[in-house]
Amino acid sequence: MNPQIDNLLHETRKFPPSEDFSSNAVATAALYDEAKADRLEFWAKQARELLTWETPFTRTLDWSNPPFAKWFDDGTLNVAYNCLDRHVEAGNGDRVAFHWEGEPGDSRTLTYAELTAEVKRAANVLAGLGIGQGDRVAIYLPMIPEAVISMLAVARLGAVHSVIFGGFSADSIRSRVDDARAKLVITADGGWRKGKVSALKPAVDAALEARGELGPQETVTNVLVVKRGENEVEWTDRDLWWHEEMAKAEPEHEAQAFEAENPLFILYTSGTTGKPKGILHTSGGYLTQCAFTHKVVFDLKPESDVYWCTADVGWITGHSYVVYGPLANGATQVLYEGTPDTPHPGRWWELIEKYKVTTFYTAPTAIRSFMKLGRKIPKQFDLSSIRLLGSVGEPINPEAWMWYRKVIGAKAAPIVDTWWQTETGAMMISALPGVTETKPGSAQVPIPGIAIDVVDDDGTHVGTGNGGLLVVTEPWPSMLRGIWGDPERYRETYWDKFGDKYFAGDGARLDHDNDIWLLGRVDDVMNVSGHRLSTAEIESALVAHPFTAEAAVVGATDETTGQAVVAFVIIKESMLEESAAVEDIAAVLRAHVGEQIGPIARPRDVFVVNELPKTRSGKIMRRLLRDVAEGRDVGDTTTLADTTVMQIITGQVTAK
Ligand code: PRX
Repeated sequence: MNPQIDNLLHETRKFPPSEDFSSNAVATAALYDEAKADRLEFWAKQARELLTWETPFTRTLDWSNPPFAKWFDDGTLNVAYNCLDRHVEAGNGDRVAFHWEGEPGDSRTLTYAELTAEVKRAANVLAGLGIGQGDRVAIYLPMIPEAVISMLAVARLGAVHSVIFGGFSADSIRSRVDDARAKLVITADGGWRKGKVSALKPAVDAALEARGELGPQETVTNVLVVKRGENEVEWTDRDLWWHEEMAKAEPEHEAQAFEAENPLFILYTSGTTGKPKGILHTSGGYLTQCAFTHKVVFDLKPESDVYWCTADVGWITGHSYVVYGPLANGATQVLYEGTPDTPHPGRWWELIEKYKVTTFYTAPTAIRSFMKLGRKIPKQFDLSSIRLLGSVGEPINPEAWMWYRKVIGAKAAPIVDTWWQTETGAMMISALPGVTETKPGSAQVPIPGIAIDVVDDDGTHVGTGNGGLLVVTEPWPSMLRGIWGDPERYRETYWDKFGDKYFAGDGARLDHDNDIWLLGRVDDVMNVSGHRLSTAEIESALVAHPFTAEAAVVGATDETTGQAVVAFVIIKESMLEESAAVEDIAAVLRAHVGEQIGPIARPRDVFVVNELPKTRSGKIMRRLLRDVAEGRDVGDTTTLADTTVMQIITGQVTAK
């Protein structure tokens, strides 16, 4: 085990909730008892209380065909209505839904009434373009209100969105649009990033151009383009300006109800193979668990709280905790377009001061990078409105946790470390503020109604003080319903290992209080700045370059980003001469990965080597490469086909 992680397990500091917080807390200890007494009834109650159903459900869970779950499946509802209209009908139309802030400093406030009106118009635009129930719509937008409006307009029609993070390349867009056979793409001319406009439409154009060769898969009939960057864009016959179509559209739109299991979205995430998986989520169960967890984990007081989740809507955190959970609960939020350090490194803290943010949810990688810059920067701003802090995406080391608590939370705000995944749809493990005594570095306890265990390779519970694999032992409302177009891969990836338990792919350990400590992935998935990346996907991008014969990628521990991508490549014999003429091969290959997948996947280091360590059966031993990348002595090499290889590689890497 990584020695740093081992240290974490000896953490003894504990922070009980304050009297003051507990006496007003939304969550109570009784939730655990209720869920324990009747788990399914507990979820049925949440679904009834938190959502508005057109047809009430009578069946809570159908698990007759595992691992394919159905929740609340004879009920019908409209997801967008639940996030919008019903708040207006309840007299909360004037409540702010979003305080949006653009990177250059422009801003826009949208009340629930205004957001509802925008979504209704957008739904009419989409319907006019032929979008209806079940159709897929790809969304490739910056963090502007139109991103949320688009998602909700798609949901309102019972169609399925596939949001593609704005940092992905044309190639990644193409594969996602193809896989989902999207009919429509919604994009923008560009968005603001790091002080300048970064174009988005050219990537969509390039992705759709490549589609020409694919013949029958040419499914995209239109591209709707939001004007944001004001950059020049090329125009084709299928392109339409968002603002022109919105101006023409009818303002009224009545939401139809769809079945609880109607697909809501596909979100692609990295797995252990080179091909991203389209994780499928549906409506009623997903919305129930998003709304429930958002309410109890963030102690939501919708009348007075200002909640800010810094995630981009291109990731699951943005789906569940910027769009669906908070809006279903009628929360007021901050939405910010740009990067945390533009135009100055205190931008986030400035926004917290400006909008009096009470509840702040971000990733450990961001906390660690602020820590590096020092407390002087946040100290220049008034952060006294903050009353609750959240963390997500990767394990938070106790040092970062303590800094977060002291510097951002004034030693008073509880911290909730929330463990979950794209696949789980919503939070699965977290403290409940006001109830749980918090512990730096541990995500702690399952959410009420969620059944988690830590087991050994045979599926046996490991017991307190031991490590093993994290599993979910009972179906949960917001669980993925499958992998788009590939039910077999769904079964294989998550269920084949244990048969009756969901295998999350994370290592975990139970401490002596039975609290859960997450120890990182046990498969070939990396976590860089809270973003999931696959070693196989980056390797296949590297070997797609004409110079590369072979490539091996590992995630090496990195102080700021959690893990960093480190690549080892062998150059083709036939290309040795040509590559020798290139001044910086590493830079060329890094840029190539950026073009193939997106800038987030660019390796931190690329080492050109003559050999890769392989077992006798030809499997690359990544463990040894990780040792080299992290500057450790190389571990046991006896299973290598050629035991001298590691000495050569270490020599080549340290010579750099
Ligand atoms: O390894 C776990 C890590 O992030 C993975 C899921 O990544 P993704 O699907 O992109 O979703 C991220 C946001 C929910 C998990 O398998 N992870 C997520 N949250 C935590 C975490 N690891 C430790 N502690 C967390 N709180």
